[in-house]
Amino acid sequence: MRVMFTSDELRGGVARMAEDINRTYGETPLTIVGVLTGSVVLLADLMRFLNMPVRVGVLHASSYRNNTRPGELIVNRELMLDISRHHTLLVDDIFDTGHTMVRVLEELREFEPSSLRTAVLLRKAARKEVDYVPDFIGFEIPDEFVVGYGLDYREMYRNLPYLAALEPADLAGDKS
Ligand code: IMP
Ligand code: MG
Repeated sequence: MRVMFTSDELRGGVARMAEDINRTYGETPLTIVGVLTGSVVLLADLMRFLNMPVRVGVLHASSYRNNTRPGELIVNRELMLDISRHHTLLVDDIFDTGHTMVRVLEELREFEPSSLRTAVLLRKAARKEVDYVPDFIGFEIPDEFVVGYGLDYREMYRNLPYLAALEPADLAGDKS
């Protein structure tokens, strides 16, 4: 594993993103919705930098690759707050191909929020397959598989305080 961003560097990126969000919304109350599970660390850090009145909710998005169509996304909104007529910011860990974010956005638009923007910690610009760009981006990264700060490889490594790129040896030694 190779460290890509230290925890201090991540903190700096999240603080910059929060400044941008604070500038955009001013005093306007904001509802932030984190996509579980990858966004939990970002969500916890980001919300503490925000200055406007904030409501915090989550939703769960997961793709079932085997028993249904490849990559079909299941969005579970049971834990989510009511976002209708609320300015809403969707928060996720990473924008890779972008399919996840675009699908979740479609679902959220049904509730008719006053506005709907998105914030992601990371973006792999080279992998983009959809016509959408997140409004707030922490870091642009190359097309490498990264873990830590909420991001997982087979549900592991989410707890790392830094962000690391996996190397072939990490995959070869995999026992799960
Ligand atoms: P999408 O390709 O933008 O739809 O991203 C789908 C999901 O794949 C993200 O929400 C992450 O959970 C996961 N993902 C994509 N790239 C990485 C990575 O480098 N590390 C860990 N998870 C990733
Ligand atoms: Mg995820």
